[in-house]
Order: sequence, then C-alpha cells, then structure tokens
Amino acid sequence: MKDFLAVKFKSEYGTDDGIRFFHAPGRVNLIGEHLDYNGGHVLPAAISLGISAAVRPNDSGILRFASLGMEERGKFSVSGNLDFKESDAWLNFPKGVAKMLRGKGVTLHGGDFLFMSTLPVGSGLSSSACIEVLVDYILRTLGNAPTDRVQIALECKKVENEYIGVNCGIMDQYAVANGKKDHAMLLDCGTLACEHIPVQTGDYRFIIMNSNKKRTLAESDFNVRFKECEEGLFLVKQIAPGTEQLASASLDVLQHITDENLKKRIRHVITEEARVRKTTGALANGDAEAIGQLLNESHFSLRDDYEVTGHALDSLTNAARNHPACTGARMTGAGFGGCCIALVHKDGIEDFMEKTELAYHLDTGLKA
Ligand code: GLA
Repeated sequence: MKDFLAVKFKSEYGTDDGIRFFHAPGRVNLIGEHLDYNGGHVLPAAISLGISAAVRPNDSGILRFASLGMEERGKFSVSGNLDFKESDAWLNFPKGVAKMLRGKGVTLHGGDFLFMSTLPVGSGLSSSACIEVLVDYILRTLGNAPTDRVQIALECKKVENEYIGVNCGIMDQYAVANGKKDHAMLLDCGTLACEHIPVQTGDYRFIIMNSNKKRTLAESDFNVRFKECEEGLFLVKQIAPGTEQLASASLDVLQHITDENLKKRIRHVITEEARVRKTTGALANGDAEAIGQLLNESHFSLRDDYEVTGHALDSLTNAARNHPACTGARMTGAGFGGCCIALVHKDGIEDFMEKTELAYHLDTGLKA
C-alpha cells in the first residue's frame, strides 16, 4: 500500500522525498443506532477499510489536498480563508479540521496530502469521521501538538456539527479514533466511558453489506430526527422531571405522550438502549441466535418507529434474513441508505452472499 501511494504521490506532487504515512479506520456500528446524541450506549467497532494518507510537510504554509479517485484538489494557506464552501466538496472536511485547530491555537504547518480511501463514501461506515480524525491527527503531529484520541474525537465532532452542519453525536469520531483490533467499543455517549469488548461470535461472522443506495447525512433527515429528539426530551422532562437524557427515560413516559410522531421516536431510543445492553450480554456468551434476534428488533424499530430505513435497506435486510445461515440483520449508521450488517454462519457465507445479492437486485434493481 505504501509503495503504491508513494508512486501516486510522486505523480501528484513531483517528488516523494520525505513523505510520511498515516491511516485511520472506518467503523461499523453493531447496535445502538441514533443513541449517541440521546446520551445512550452504542457498540461500534473499527474496521479494516479506511483512509490512508501520504503527507510531505513543507515550510510554505500551504496545505495541498488531493485524493485518488476524487476530482477536486485544494490549496489553502494556513493563515488564509478556510471557510466552508459548497463547491469545495470533500475538501471541506480537511479544511474544516484545519480551521478548527487554528482556532484552538495549534500551530499549523504546510503540507502536501494525498489520500487513498477504501471506504465507500456516504455508506454508513463513517468516511467523514475517518478523514476528519485522520487529518486532525496528522496536523497535530506535524505541529508537535498532543494527540489525545478522545480530544481529537471531540474536536472532529465539533467540526461536523458547526462547520459541516450535521448534528451528529460522538460515536463515529470516537470509534474511528479509539478502535482496537477484534474488539467493539461499548461507549456511554453521556459520559464517554468506554469499554473495549471482544467480538465473540463463535462460528458466526458479521457481514457488512453495502446497499449502494446513496445518501449524504447533511441532505438526509438526520437533523430532523435530532430536533424531534430534542422536542421529545423536553416533553419527557415535564413528565419525569430529573430525566437527563432520552436514552435513560423509562417506557412508562410513553403513555403520557399524545404526539404520535414523537412517541415513536422516543420509543425507538428507549428500546434501542435496552437492546445494546442485551447485545453486550449475548456477545459475551457468544450467543449468535440472541444477537441475530436483537439485530432484527433494532432494524424493525428503526423502520417503524424511527423511520430511517427506506425500501432499499428493508429489502436488503429481508433478503439476508431469509437465508438459513443468517440469524439476523439490520441497517447500520444513520440510515436512509448505506450499509447493513448480518450475522451469518461461516459455512454459509458464500451462498448467503449470492442469494442475498440476487434477491435484493430483483427487488430493487440495485447491486449490493
Ligand atoms: C451517523 C452519525 C452518528 C450517529 C449515527 C446513528 O453515523 O454521525 O453520530 O448518530 O448516524 O447512530
């Protein structure tokens, strides 16, 4: 990988003298969807797909960004205008991180960056958080600033919220910055207490399936859900004073809520929080049937109560569930498109992939 990137770097920037390599993983969320901005628990894991960067520091005070397979190239002075600009497309991510760091007083050095991504863009595997965390880590490293990974995650969430304009929670940036091989992270998004837990599924494997139904978070209803949850919490606080976060509310509050829409959103949050705890227990016992059942329940809740699945994700998970080697399946990430996961017996994986792809294609015309 490094050799390949070095060759590409040379053709982009003329020389590969003094380049350094960095890498950040994407993440998949096993369960705990739309809980991070509701103070709940999530269970993401870093994955081997991710974004690599070859970087050559320079003393010119100019940041140059390019990425294999992306048309846009960017050239920004570290002391110049780093404001968000629609036409800068993906370049807004590294630029936004640079602007945030400059605002915090981190000394920015110039550098030539070439990125190479194996993460499908906008697919629910955190390509945005991945490039943010990667660039934050690199710029801090080049500026001899501390690289505390929790701090980096918090900074990048701020970039996403305030610069990109998506009201996401902390899950993606945290998972990208703090992942550990063969482990998921049980993250309490209210306190940021995190436990790395081994992913034990015996003869079963988590399969990540890309629906190839595109979405971008900023365009989707993500911010609408965020707002509904804020309204939901406001109501819940009136019914059960002292409730700090929606995820810690009790199901009893629902009987006092008359707004059917908000009731559904709140029910998803409360029931999903319970499923995270159950899944953690099932993982510890290596109970593939129980995990699969919880994946299914999570998907149905996201479909019926939170309403973020849509036909493609419902179709793909249905097709997966219909295969005898699969114990359960759900969408992962924000929803509205992107990826799903399934838990599948290792001996049936090939057949599972073939049959699931076919059924999904026949139903939607899309190729997973
Ligand atoms: C996106 C957001 C996360 C989280 C998930 C849904 O990935 O960036 O913060 O809210 O959706 O669980």
